[in-house]
Amino acid sequence: MDAAIKTIHAREILDSRGNPTVEVDVVLNDETRARAAVPSGASTGTHEAVELRDHDKLRFGGKGVLTAVANVNTIIAPALAGMDAADQGRIDRTMIALDGTPNKARLGANAILGVSMAAARAAALSRDIPLYEYLGSDHTYLLPVPMMNVLNGGVHAQWQGADFQEYMIVPFGAPDFHTALRWGAETYHALLDLLKKKNYPTAVGDEGGFAPKVASNEEPLEFITLAIEQAGYRPGTDIGISLDPASSGFCYAGKYELKREGKALTPEELIRYYTRLVDTYPILSIEDGLAEDDWAGWKVLAGELGTRIELIGDDIFVTSPALVKRGIEEQVANSVLIKLNQIGTVTETRATIDLARGAGWGTNVSHRSGETVDSFIADFTVATCAGKLKTGAPSRGERVEKYNQLMRIEEELGSRAVYAGRKAFVR
Ligand code: PGA
Ligand code: ZN
Repeated sequence: MDAAIKTIHAREILDSRGNPTVEVDVVLNDETRARAAVPSGASTGTHEAVELRDHDKLRFGGKGVLTAVANVNTIIAPALAGMDAADQGRIDRTMIALDGTPNKARLGANAILGVSMAAARAAALSRDIPLYEYLGSDHTYLLPVPMMNVLNGGVHAQWQGADFQEYMIVPFGAPDFHTALRWGAETYHALLDLLKKKNYPTAVGDEGGFAPKVASNEEPLEFITLAIEQAGYRPGTDIGISLDPASSGFCYAGKYELKREGKALTPEELIRYYTRLVDTYPILSIEDGLAEDDWAGWKVLAGELGTRIELIGDDIFVTSPALVKRGIEEQVANSVLIKLNQIGTVTETRATIDLARGAGWGTNVSHRSGETVDSFIADFTVATCAGKLKTGAPSRGERVEKYNQLMRIEEELGSRAVYAGRKAFVR
């Protein structure tokens, strides 16, 4: 068998924050060589699959990944040798069984995911087809609406800016992906000019968005709406706004502490705050509006805003089929964020997407705040027809690489390229 796995080799590399992460090379019997690198979050959900770190304080402040690397090289590699790289299900099931824990705590989700993605890429290369085609089915592909995080707050701005973590512009009204990306980049530059005029610093946060010390959590929405107009677009018609407050990060003992505004809000008060924002600005979605364990609050939020906007669960669902299933049953949201490294294999990630879609929920593929130049999620989003991809601002190489890969895919698909547009958002 030509596409059988010959060797698997992992190494420790650096991510966009200068922290170590896992990179995996897979070589097949036919000499196909493929590589994948694993991202890393900062505002992580408690129930995510385990990102295995060495905790050796003498190396990278304890963040080294040599244990995960060794797990690939000495445990996973021998077990997968000779296996068909195109049998993703078997590869992923084998690693899950080898790990033997419910959350990939023994081998590490970072070890397992690196192999899972590199095997997929090797299988595609061996067949000489693009990754999105290999990962797709029925030759239906969808270019996602980019959710571009142009203003960073929360932990991604070292809690020096807004309490809300992400303010995204969403050019859903564009006719195609490359036009959407241009509108987004132009709006990003209009925002830069606006911040300069206001004498706000324009250094960027982890995901490439500006990270100014704003006066309130609402002020960025005023700036962004103005920037959309100044770039020549219509807020709410051409370009909308998505928020990821990532509220688990500022929830203490059931109260949501907005330091920027000197307030501690109950879930009901925060929901009223969001409702006012939705009434005032062209907001299409709110992700993690409430904290990961505040299921009761989520239920109230869904009742209040679930018919008007997309309510996306990130920390609350952590891409886990079990948690998404519970969310569907309890009707606490209408959309899920999809992060491969929250669950740890390509196969399980697809299962979560299928589950959400089956319930009529929205799906949003996402990068992590710590990234590499690996653009796997660009192909993955097109192949799974997820409809939306959030991968940061049109700034910083590791963010832009995903958007550029989507432009290459769109060009290659030619007349077969369909842009998701407004329909990608559920209400
Ligand atoms: P993270 O943040 O990658 O730091 O977890 C992204 C998000 O909360 O969506
Ligand atoms: Zn999030």
